[in-house]
Amino acid sequence: MLAEILTWLTTPASAEARRLGYLRAAIGLQSRAGRCRAAWSSHLTRCHDAVRASVARCSRRRTAIVLGSGLGLEFPLDELAKEFERVVLADIVHLPAIRRQAARQPNVELLSIDLTALARALLIAVPRDTAAVMRLIAPPRLPPEMIADADWVISCNLLSQLPMLPVAWLERRGRFAAADLERIGRRLMACHLEWLGGFPGVRCLIADAEQTVRDAEGRTLESTDVAAAFDLDRHATASWTWELAPAGELADGLSAVHRVVACDWPADYSAAAVEPSGNSTSV
Ligand SMILES: C[S@@+](CC[C@H](N)C(=O)[O-])C[C@H]1O[C@@H](n2cnc3c(N)ncnc32)[C@H](O)[C@@H]1O
Repeated sequence: MLAEILTWLTTPASAEARRLGYLRAAIGLQSRAGRCRAAWSSHLTRCHDAVRASVARCSRRRTAIVLGSGLGLEFPLDELAKEFERVVLADIVHLPAIRRQAARQPNVELLSIDLTALARALLIAVPRDTAAVMRLIAPPRLPPEMIADADWVISCNLLSQLPMLPVAWLERRGRFAAADLERIGRRLMACHLEWLGGFPGVRCLIADAEQTVRDAEGRTLESTDVAAAFDLDRHATASWTWELAPAGELADGLSAVHRVVACDWPADYSAAAVEPSGNSTSV
């Protein structure tokens, strides 16, 4: 606990990363990754395999961009640094461990960026209504030359995370109905997927396809079908189960299991063309 507090105090992070809870979430993720090392190992192997398969499709290797680089667990950073001239790790927060890992490679750089481009605006003023929030949702701005040279880009287990903290922030302000918050969350994810489709090189998406929370007896309590909402399975090249929170990790004996997909992300993706599926619980 003391180590976590020290990390919170000493990690360089923007006001929005601190106040909306991104820094706290990253520290929590790091602690969970330590506790769940064994349960996560096959997921991490599958992620690395998916990254290698995707990189193998790149004919040029100038810049690689990892969106949602987090703790650097789900992709082989050393290999990327050998394969590409430049590797950009893009996340809203970079904890000391990934900073140290990046510093060992001269061609690896950190880009601290809010990939929703929404967090700072929410800090300044809470929008009046859903339409006002929707108007704020826009693709993030990366330097144009970085995008032009991006021979490979991955959205690395980021998609389902994008709405979480902004939506929780809005929910705490009490002005938005649950259905509106769901629409906002969906728009944030759609915007990301459409933006990802605009990168010029090989595009890889690793994302939660389905999230399931089970009770102590293994019964499903809650299920979220991200795949159906965004037609992820149509583009999937691999799919596997990730025991995100094995029994004992959550309160009340609950556990969480995700189905994860790796996708070759298409250039022409349009979220509007994807009909919401009737069997999706909530996204
Ligand atoms: C599940 S973790 C990804 C783990 C990471 N791929 C790894 O290999 O360790 C999700 C990541 O998304 C980042 N994230 C969430 N919302 C973000 C945002 N709006 N902008 C940038 N990064 C964000 C979090 O900081 C976190 O590092």
